[in-house]
Amino acid sequence: MQTKPTDEDCCDPPILVVNNLSVIRSGKIVLKDVDLTVHKGEFIGIVGPNGSGKSTLLLSLLGVIKPHKGSISIYGDVPNPRNFFGRIGWVSQAASYLPRQVKLTVRELVRLGTVSGKNIFSWSDGSNDKVSQAIKMVGLEDVENLDVSRLSGGQRQRAVIARALATEAEFILLDEPLVGMDRDARNSLLKLLDQLCHDAGKTILMVSHDLTAIRQTAHRMIFLEEKIRFDGPTNLFPELEALAELRGITPVHESPVNFQTVPRSEEVKT
Ligand SMILES: Nc1ncnc2c1ncn2[C@@H]1O[C@H](COP(=O)(O)OP(=O)(O)OP(=O)(O)O)[C@@H](O)[C@H]1O
Ligand SMILES: [Mg+2]
Repeated sequence: MQTKPTDEDCCDPPILVVNNLSVIRSGKIVLKDVDLTVHKGEFIGIVGPNGSGKSTLLLSLLGVIKPHKGSISIYGDVPNPRNFFGRIGWVSQAASYLPRQVKLTVRELVRLGTVSGKNIFSWSDGSNDKVSQAIKMVGLEDVENLDVSRLSGGQRQRAVIARALATEAEFILLDEPLVGMDRDARNSLLKLLDQLCHDAGKTILMVSHDLTAIRQTAHRMIFLEEKIRFDGPTNLFPELEALAELRGITPVHESPVNFQTVPRSEEVKT
């Protein structure tokens, strides 16, 4: 389905339009009446408690889970897992946990991103250049011939991102890419994603529990809990008390008058 740009979108049509999406898993409504429009070059952070449907939304966008109701249009088409080798890149936390038995160098792993039905028996179609460029973009040139199992968690995550970049994906979906990373690795990954967005014109949709990190980087934030409860510029993202209200949670205890300095966790928890 081709979607038309609205009046306020000056030129390009959106790359993603989700209309009234509902998804049922194991007989239970997981997503309900979700509307979402994404334009090229946006960096969007999705947060929400455990089980609130964040991964389900990404899997629906990839065409892995079918909607119960509503529609998804991505680059003017219904989602199709075959798009994995097209304009959409997918990076999940699990993707960086490669089985120990798998012996692959960084370069080989990234090269897998360029393998498609067309070139499975031949890599002479320029894919070597794409691989080198992707490795350079994530700053792993020094370790490109090392076995992936010897990398740190942060480096491995970069390698998985490079694999997505090698497909020349324009739209990158990341599900919890920061889990298990130390502060430096996390900061440098966020910087990389920011550069990919600003300098390479990528569009990024990132799910994370790390509210502080995602707020530093994303331009737009979505709070998802079955429905989208907030969608707007990052600087307008509500504080935790207001979030609790959005979620319909009322305070259990009345706050004593001068009990205002309790450190607040920035993690979004159930
Ligand atoms: N494979 C599955 N089959 C059936 N139900 C599932 C499956 N995976 C998840 N669910 C259910 O769908 C709901 C949403 O799960 P989802 O994984 O999308 O949440 P999430 O927001 O990504 O959570 P988390 O922050 O823990 O990753 C949950 O109630 C979960 O139990
Ligand atoms: Mg999830």
